[in-house]
Amino acid sequence: TGKVTYDPGFANTANTSSAITFIDGDEGILRYRGYPIEELTEKSNFIEVCYLLIYGELPTQEQYDEFDARLRRHTLVHEDLRRFFTAFPYDAHPMPMVSSAISALSTFYQDNLSVFDDEQIDLSSIRMLAKMPTIAAMAHRKSEGLPVIHPDNSLNLVENFLRVNFGYPSEPYELDPLAVKAMDQLFILHADHEQNCSTSTVRLVGSAQANIFQSISAGVNALAGPLHGGANSAVLEMLEEILASDDGAKSYMERVKNKEQGVRLMGFGHRVYKNYDPRAAIIKKTAHEILERTGGNDEMLELALKLEEIALADDYFVERSLYPNVDFYTGLIYKALGFPTDMFTVLFAVGRLPGWIAQWREMINDPETRIGRPRQIYTGEPKRSYTDISER
Ligand code: CMC
Repeated sequence: TGKVTYDPGFANTANTSSAITFIDGDEGILRYRGYPIEELTEKSNFIEVCYLLIYGELPTQEQYDEFDARLRRHTLVHEDLRRFFTAFPYDAHPMPMVSSAISALSTFYQDNLSVFDDEQIDLSSIRMLAKMPTIAAMAHRKSEGLPVIHPDNSLNLVENFLRVNFGYPSEPYELDPLAVKAMDQLFILHADHEQNCSTSTVRLVGSAQANIFQSISAGVNALAGPLHGGANSAVLEMLEEILASDDGAKSYMERVKNKEQGVRLMGFGHRVYKNYDPRAAIIKKTAHEILERTGGNDEMLELALKLEEIALADDYFVERSLYPNVDFYTGLIYKALGFPTDMFTVLFAVGRLPGWIAQWREMINDPETRIGRPRQIYTGEPKRSYTDISER
């Protein structure tokens, strides 16, 4: 305790030390466990990155095979959990369906952290990782009125994810290697980002010793907001709005700069990056590759490039160090892969999951962890006396 520091949005307050992710916002550097993001997206794969984040080191071949096999073994969800999805309204947004289903996992796996058990925590981490693609796809299929596709455990986590989202019950699913590569790369790029809003939420909820499912469900809800993960679908909606209007990119930018209420250049700006977001640089390249191959959506990519060009040459954005962030180009790729706009933030959640798990485990094992309990500056009434309701 002692002197309370006023720091809205925790812009300058570290709530924890962490050995997982390093960001240098001025230099545009992002590293997981010391490995630069550029190298991981080029040479590694998502499953390996999950292992790296959670266990701290790249796996040996044997460790990789065992981890991969465990992830394949736990893909199914309980049939009763599946029935949750019939209860949601037909037009429900997939994000709250996903967070509800994750919360519901804690009714099937009743981890109790007052009985601290490393094996239980590890099994729950695997269950969470393995079931997330199944749950995410169920939300997607529900929102489109399509039948649920069961996972095929001859496929790995990323391949399976595409199958359960896009397969048909009676047909073998043909994997598109470019789609697998793009999905894998996008998941790697989202896998962790130190103490962002959703991750801090996971840690805060977990600091009360809520279990992993409860903590991560809270993180998914934080991610849903348009200033956080929800920005990826907001970007696409913004591009659609500009294309549908007669006014074009320049006029939209004027509205942004005039700070018209609710009008921001979505997918721009970041609390920590004051230079180009290294994730956006990689994603921009992938967007070109995917859109070239599918031949569609060029109009939107061109518009996005134009908005970026205008912004990077404009004093408003330069003075405030606003650059494209991870969400600026991802939506174009997700759309080209066939995902509906509502699913974009769920894709972010699937990618961020290993980071949440790694951070939750680091938090629970850190002897310095105390229950998260921010202070406040009280600005209310001084002491006063109660008046009876008849006298007010
Ligand atoms: N468009 C227009 N103006 C902006 C934008 C933007 N996208 N972002 C920041 N500003 C302005 C803001 O109005 C403020 O101006 P002034 O100094 O005149 O008041 C200044 O830049 C600083 O902004 P801030 O809101 O104080 O910055 P923050 O660090 O609190 O917020 C942010 C960071 C990411 C929430 C914000 O930049 C934003 O709303 N961006 C759009 C939403 C978005 O793309 N979010 C995704 C973030 S990255 C991945 C993720 O977390 O999911």
